[in-house]
Amino acid sequence: MEQKPRIILDCDPGIDDAFAIVTAARWADVAGITTVSGNVSLDRTTANALRLRSLLNADFPVHAGADKPLEAPPLSAGHVHGECGLGGIDLPPPAKTPDSFDAIEFIIETTKNEEGLHLVPIGPLTNIALALQADPNISRRVASITFMGGSAGGLGNVTAAAEFNIFADPEAAEVVLTSGSPVTMIGLNLTHQVQVGKKETENCHAIDTPVGSAMAYLLDFYAEFYRSHLGTDTGSMHDPCAILAVTHPDLFGFEKRHVDVETGGKHTRGMTLVDERGQGSDLEPNCEVAYTIDSQKAVDLIMQAVADM
Ligand code: BDR
Ligand code: CA
Repeated sequence: MEQKPRIILDCDPGIDDAFAIVTAARWADVAGITTVSGNVSLDRTTANALRLRSLLNADFPVHAGADKPLEAPPLSAGHVHGECGLGGIDLPPPAKTPDSFDAIEFIIETTKNEEGLHLVPIGPLTNIALALQADPNISRRVASITFMGGSAGGLGNVTAAAEFNIFADPEAAEVVLTSGSPVTMIGLNLTHQVQVGKKETENCHAIDTPVGSAMAYLLDFYAEFYRSHLGTDTGSMHDPCAILAVTHPDLFGFEKRHVDVETGGKHTRGMTLVDERGQGSDLEPNCEVAYTIDSQKAVDLIMQAVADM
């Protein structure tokens, strides 16, 4: 059997983060989960990661990380994910405490002990930036830093120009993109192609396991946000796409591009500026940017993960 890619999943659960954790537990070899302040505060994202670990009966370690961005004021997305981050779901409190409160040390030490890991950040990039600042050689030891955030083509969700994970900590995103690491960007231009709605909620209900029921609840809550705030019947499965980019890269179309992060800007702070000038550009590519995905296959793999876990 083919070996699963080994990853550290850096997250801020978060409803789509919860689906990413389930997707990772099924299709990747998870060396550990690190948590960061983002969708909700660090104590909540950490508690949610621990609750999801228990739900999955998984044994990967959970390490708590940064409780605030490098410089930006903390930002939350409680209106999307609910005040607790998981739509008020009734999951048992975590059986265990975090394995440590030093996610940065965990990232540094684990990437020293095992070269070739993929770092998969699906929240603000604060932990990854702090780890790179403390140990720049991480860049040479990892197989990739595959992050969900930003967008090609100037698409935003927090502002007209900026996506949540980058807007929450643009300085951290800049550290990552200028680090010389093998970086892959899974932006809104890609994740908007992977939509879930009523059909997937019903499929999760029909699975009739604790994981299936929990995911059905989360999808119901998520769909309600999309209906009431955006007037759509389906919502984007952002974060699982970053997992699939590592575990199933053949589903994706990538292009090498130069990507900058706007850290100033009156209207554009947090925007990812993707250079699409091709041969006319004098800038070296620093990022693999995902443009296309087999959307149906992606949804099928996420749903299969829910069913198998
Ligand atoms: C990203 O923002 C968060 O709210 C989601 O969890 C995802 O990581 C999408 O912009
Ligand atoms: Ca997230």
